[in-house]
Amino acid sequence: MGNVIVSGDRLCLRPLDREDATALATHVTTETDTVMVRGRVPVSPLAFERWIVSLDATSPPPGISVAVCLLDEAEPGRLIGVATLRNIDWVNRTAETGIGIYPATRRGQGYGAEAKHLLLSYAFDRLHLHAIHATVWEPNTRSARAILRQGYRPAGRTRWTDPRDGTYRDTLFFDLLRPEWEAAHREWRARRSAAPTVTDAGMTAPASGPSRTGEPA
Ligand SMILES: CC(C)(COP(=O)(O)OP(=O)(O)OC[C@H]1O[C@@H](n2cnc3c(N)ncnc32)[C@H](O)[C@@H]1OP(=O)(O)O)[C@@H](O)C(=O)NCCC(=O)NCCS
Repeated sequence: MGNVIVSGDRLCLRPLDREDATALATHVTTETDTVMVRGRVPVSPLAFERWIVSLDATSPPPGISVAVCLLDEAEPGRLIGVATLRNIDWVNRTAETGIGIYPATRRGQGYGAEAKHLLLSYAFDRLHLHAIHATVWEPNTRSARAILRQGYRPAGRTRWTDPRDGTYRDTLFFDLLRPEWEAAHREWRARRSAAPTVTDAGMTAPASGPSRTGEPA
């Protein structure tokens, strides 16, 4: 697979392409997980194509969105998500992160964590950003939990930002400094290498050692 920006054990990040527009529109229109879906604005492959083309409109860009793709030999290069650095402040070196893993059946298998660590490694090591922030809509408890696992700290909330089932819910704010990410990244790698992996014979074996790519230890 060409044009890879950063690569880990199971995933890589690469630039989005026009050809990804149909897959992204399909993922959004067939979303089964209701925690994110507002359904207010219809989306189509055309809308995604325009958005993808707009990502290169200015330099330096205000944001960078990349495809999250499998390295898996059975489905090499399959797009399973989008990871984003938005509102990049190139002077003060800050940005906001966002991520989605698709379809919903791929969630809860560690892909989101790996993709986010790859994105954060790109943000801190390549772009030399030094502080990251993120927002999570309060009902999205899985996302809030995942973000805390990646080292982000709670940084407040704005109240009543968006209604859900007739009740206004809050938006939660989180921030992350480089040393906090490094500690969370080390813990994540230690947890992952301690977990048994299933071999093709159905036996369990210790997970292999360091990443086969340049992902930082
Ligand atoms: C949020 C999201 C990116 C997380 O990715 P994922 O692949 O599902 O998550 P992972 O399997 O890597 O797990 C990462 C952490 O998320 C949390 N998590 C995962 N599944 C969870 C669940 N069902 N309930 C609560 N927490 C959960 C856990 O803290 C987990 O870490 P741990 O296993 O070390 O405790 C993914 O679920 C997703 O795309 N959701 C829809 C889009 C979205 O909500 N994006 C974020 C918008 S703010």
